[in-house]
Amino acid sequence: MTAQPPEGARSVEQLKEAAASCRGCELWEHATQTVFGEGREGSKLMLVGEQPGDQEDLQGKPFVGPAGRLLEKALDEAGIDRSRVYVTNAVKHFRWTRRGKRRLHEKPNAGQVRACRPWLEAEIEVVRPGMLVLLGATAAQSVMGPAFRVSQQRGEVLRSPFGIPVVATVHPSSILRATDAESREAALASFISDLEVAGRGA
Ligand code: URA
Repeated sequence: MTAQPPEGARSVEQLKEAAASCRGCELWEHATQTVFGEGREGSKLMLVGEQPGDQEDLQGKPFVGPAGRLLEKALDEAGIDRSRVYVTNAVKHFRWTRRGKRRLHEKPNAGQVRACRPWLEAEIEVVRPGMLVLLGATAAQSVMGPAFRVSQQRGEVLRSPFGIPVVATVHPSSILRATDAESREAALASFISDLEVAGRGA
């Protein structure tokens, strides 16, 4: 069954319930569950990540693993209260590959991102945020199109096809991958400054 967002959905809860049985692409087959967005309708900021990771897949909530902890710290330093932000992903099932006992993240492909876009659109319609923050290339390209380059336009307030302003920035897991403390600090500082731009514009 391919679940689509119900016409005229009015709440995140309604969308979440419908998305639980989405078979719009094959990723549901190896995922524990659909990980839908979380937060209140009317949230000023909507943060869009790539896809749930291992912890998110198990817990059924977005950004609860290591990248989520870093995101929380960065939001805090940017003066943004996470409880007032809607957090979601471009793709709502975990794509992974087995390496020994571990499930390793695999980037979703363009078809999987496209299949999941109606859910993101429906979330935007129901939440009506004042600003979207696109975390990394997958989210940025899902919203702004495949030619969009985060490296060229990060931290700028741009207009999205939804008519809502957006700020694109790096994905928090890229900061966790920094090879030394100095570059991690610098990457975190730039990330916080992008979030501050978004927070001011929301
Ligand atoms: N990375 C994401 O893009 N989203 C999550 O929910 C967790 C990690």
